[in-house]
Amino acid sequence: MDHFEYRDGQLYCEGVSADRIVQEVGTPVYVYSKATLLHHFGQIVEAFAPLDATVCYAVKTNGNLHICRVLAEAGAGFDVVSGGEIHRALAAGGDPARIVFAGVGKSDREIAEAIEAGVGLFNVESEPELENIDRIAGRMGRPARGALRVNPDVDPRTHTYITTGKKETKFGVDIERAMAIFRAHARRLGNRAAAPDRPGLHLRGIHLHIGSQITTVQPYVDATAKTLALIDGLRGEGFAIDSLDLGGGFGINYQAEEALPASAFAEALVPMLRGRGLRITLEPGRFIAGNAGVMLTQVQYVKSGGDRRFVIVDAAMNDLIRPMLYGAFHFIWPTRVKASFVPPAVRTEAANLPGLSAVDVVGPICESGDFFAKDRPLPPVARGDRLAIFSAGAYGFAMASQYNARPRPPEVLVDGEGYRIIRRRESYDDLIAHERD
Ligand code: LLP
Repeated sequence: MDHFEYRDGQLYCEGVSADRIVQEVGTPVYVYSKATLLHHFGQIVEAFAPLDATVCYAVKTNGNLHICRVLAEAGAGFDVVSGGEIHRALAAGGDPARIVFAGVGKSDREIAEAIEAGVGLFNVESEPELENIDRIAGRMGRPARGALRVNPDVDPRTHTYITTGKKETKFGVDIERAMAIFRAHARRLGNRAAAPDRPGLHLRGIHLHIGSQITTVQPYVDATAKTLALIDGLRGEGFAIDSLDLGGGFGINYQAEEALPASAFAEALVPMLRGRGLRITLEPGRFIAGNAGVMLTQVQYVKSGGDRRFVIVDAAMNDLIRPMLYGAFHFIWPTRVKASFVPPAVRTEAANLPGLSAVDVVGPICESGDFFAKDRPLPPVARGDRLAIFSAGAYGFAMASQYNARPRPPEVLVDGEGYRIIRRRESYDDLIAHERD
């Protein structure tokens, strides 16, 4: 469920029409719904309430300060993967103790900054990283908490670029090697191991994140079962394991009702995890932000080429790269349509409305990969019409660039009947600001 809907043939985000925003802010523009963000966050919190899970929003999804602040105020922790994301999470009012820090290549500087800030948990992805965090924490005279990220070798059945829990991916350590790594670390710590406030890294948990846009429960169940067996083994050897971070990855509806509700994941996982003496963390990103945002763009020209019709819009791959990078489907529809073209709630069913014709929706960038949709049935559109590109709240602006010297678009946050610009449109001067002598 989200708060984008057509009323009298016009797209609204909560109480604000898309056209009003476009008239006042221009295009392209990202538009987010606060109520939708909170609704999705609440669904996860509620589903996993029997475990009292900590929900750490994955900042990489959409790191806008105001988005992070809305979630921090609702009680979210943050999942971060860089010093910059720690900076964002803290600037948004995030509680450092509820920040979890993952990433295969944490630099010495980032590690020191995280320790300095009091980041709650390092999700450690390799043995050399383990030693490095231990060394830096020791040098700083500070204790740090760590969880070992394991790779459970399950197939999340999603796009290869966002599959992270298979053996051949670069993330975490093979689950079979986890026990040996815990033993070696304990040997290295010697009597430091026993005292949790002694300087150095204290490994107390397990982390996994098997992939993204996952639309079935089984991969989570398989990964969790393997991980619980590991935790039993570790505890059997006397390791005090007190936390399990299951990562993110819950899929959303891009095309139709392909995704599962949060409760479906919880129904399978809660019985496995309840009463095990583990603090549970989740790191959802897309589930919270994906369908809380659209990008609005304006049709520049409509032209024919061979047997194709091109709708050329003023947004481009630099603004939203997912179609080009992953072949991702984003539902696209005019912001203003006559009654017969009002799309039904289920997105793909829109393709069956009578009177549509197939077009390619493309941007102005000098690459053939600069498209948002190919051969897509749309109502007739003309120069000046506005289109909404849906499900753009996650990995949309976050992956935007200035390619072709295009200033990045503004971001707007709708709250009820009003909205605020939460990031202004970049100017031409912004493009060259860091290059001046
Ligand atoms: N935790 C870790 C350690 C992650 O690497 C990720 C995402 C998440 C949590 C959040 O995953 P989510 O709940 O959003 O699925 N740019 C791609 C997605 C990359 C995901 C990377 N890791 C896309 O546009 O589809």
